[in-house]
Amino acid sequence: MTNKILSEESLTLQAPQHIKSQTNLSLDEYKERYKESIKDPEKFWDDLAKKELDWFEDYTQVREWTYPNYQWFLGGKLNITYNCLDRHVNNGKRNQVAYIYVDENSCEVKITYGELLEKVNKIANGLKSLGVKKGDTVTIYMAMTIEQIASILACARIGAIHSVVFGGFSAQALRLRIEDAKSEIVICSSYTQRKGKKAELKSIVNEATKDLDLVRKIIVDSRDENFELFEREVDLQDLMSKQSSICKPEVMDSEDPLFILYTSGTTGKPKGVMHTTAGYNLYTHYTTKMTFDIKGDEVFWCTADPGWITGHSYIIYGPLSNGITSVIAEGSPVYPAPDRFWSIIEKYRVNIFYTAPTAVRMFMKLGKEWPKKHDLSSLKILGSVGEPINPEAWIWYHKHIGLENCAIVDTWWQTETGGHMISTYPSFDTKPGRAGLPMLGIEVDVIDKEGNSTKVNEVGFLVIKQPWPSALRTCWGEPKRYEKYWTEIEGFYFAGDLATKDDDGYIMILGRADDTLSISGHRIGTAEVESALVAHKAVAEAAVIGLPHEIKGECIAAFLILMQDELTNEQQSLSIKEKVRTELGSLAVPDEIHFVETLPKTRSGKIMRRVLKANRLGQDPGDTSTLED
Ligand code: WT7
Repeated sequence: MTNKILSEESLTLQAPQHIKSQTNLSLDEYKERYKESIKDPEKFWDDLAKKELDWFEDYTQVREWTYPNYQWFLGGKLNITYNCLDRHVNNGKRNQVAYIYVDENSCEVKITYGELLEKVNKIANGLKSLGVKKGDTVTIYMAMTIEQIASILACARIGAIHSVVFGGFSAQALRLRIEDAKSEIVICSSYTQRKGKKAELKSIVNEATKDLDLVRKIIVDSRDENFELFEREVDLQDLMSKQSSICKPEVMDSEDPLFILYTSGTTGKPKGVMHTTAGYNLYTHYTTKMTFDIKGDEVFWCTADPGWITGHSYIIYGPLSNGITSVIAEGSPVYPAPDRFWSIIEKYRVNIFYTAPTAVRMFMKLGKEWPKKHDLSSLKILGSVGEPINPEAWIWYHKHIGLENCAIVDTWWQTETGGHMISTYPSFDTKPGRAGLPMLGIEVDVIDKEGNSTKVNEVGFLVIKQPWPSALRTCWGEPKRYEKYWTEIEGFYFAGDLATKDDDGYIMILGRADDTLSISGHRIGTAEVESALVAHKAVAEAAVIGLPHEIKGECIAAFLILMQDELTNEQQSLSIKEKVRTELGSLAVPDEIHFVETLPKTRSGKIMRRVLKANRLGQDPGDTSTLED
């Protein structure tokens, strides 16, 4: 992927005139405001917090920054669901559609801001009736439905901390997350739609919570199914039917935890990234508004799942806080036909479409005749997120989805950053393959090991110089792991990515500097996959690397030393892959399994994945002086 980016490095495209002339922010205005925002970030965020959010009580201090910890809007009181729902309902938007849900059979459900508020309140009251209190954690394992979004918001309504687990994760992975978060309550759907079939979620919850006494109640959205509920189980619809549709929003402190979301690190254990209320609310609100040039009546479609940060920030909190209408589509992008997405854009006149490069590459492969069948002229802004978008995919997106008439924003950010950190704003020139410039209020740099800025186009570490409102506050129960973000490169937030900066300051992301992989834009740790592999009884030792993949961006290759007398045949490979599926989920299943006699190690016993990778790709392994054998 990287080679392709480099070969088309110099391509610059202007934003379409009709967008340029109407956007919230021109390049010149940006330059001016950016300078100010960096010179006095506290003033910048203070002004925005007053203008963009509704507060129950004003804060008394904008920021407290005692390296490596920080707090924002100290002493302020608010509730994010008030900013996302009540204030719109109170301001004439009660009947505006908040979400248009579509399933794989094109059945739609629309819910207005007024109705959503009532649904959230009923679930919130239901949670209260089960004894859930402010500060408790609730794990959510649901299909992408309005009920899922309402359940998430219901937690925030009463100050419970939500921990959403993506429905593709296995029972083992779910159990680990429930236990780590100490969730006494789990909310799940009976199933999710996937390519015309039902993918079971409830049975996975059964397995994940078996003999797990910690879990007091499991709330089940049975959907159209009818099944017997066991002692600790509660039906979501039943629970709601008994509740009032009024629930006063819990008064939250700015720094009260809003949610935890697990993401992969370099050890086998995922980390629970924790975000708090006010800073996250402001930052996701503001980046939604600016990156997607929101005026207030847009139809927005972010194709992520709320199980990932993109869904938290740009399906739920950012769009709702701005009071716009969002589309959500459960199920496969290409079922029942490869043009499912394009027919949805046509039908609902979607203005802003936000997806991942892996999806763009998949659509590219399916062919331009599919989008061509539909009227995509409502589109104004196209977004990309999750991994570097290669110029070839960028240009296809621009031509065949954007009809050369849209602005493309390639947004770089992370679970930890809460919202967009680097992108172009819609009026800017774009350079396919380069994400762009830092967002307002964000100071980034590309530096070498000593902390000096690298020269133009020289590879270095991507860092952020100061805390921003939606920066993670801690890793759940692991403060030392949190500190590493700020101490690994002394004084900076180190994102874990490699990057370059060109002479206009445009940043190109080259990929991770650590032992994590990006599979279809989802971060997976090599250590996590390796521990899933060695959990198989035939596997003695495992090493995992990422390989370039046409659609997924990266795929996994595993090198395994088997126990004595174990067979190295196809059957064995399949059984090992199955083990990874049940330990982690299908995202993490290796595409390649190689049985080997030894693994390249340093004299201190560390596996040299770099050597494995070079070997597999027929490249020069570089310096191997530390290699043991
Ligand atoms: C990592 C964060 C942000 C939500 C989805 C992923 C990579 C993300 C881009 C982009 C190049 C990107 C980085 C980052 N990444 N967006 N536009 N261009 N790389 O969230 O799982 O927390 O992963 O995704 O490597 O560090 P995540």
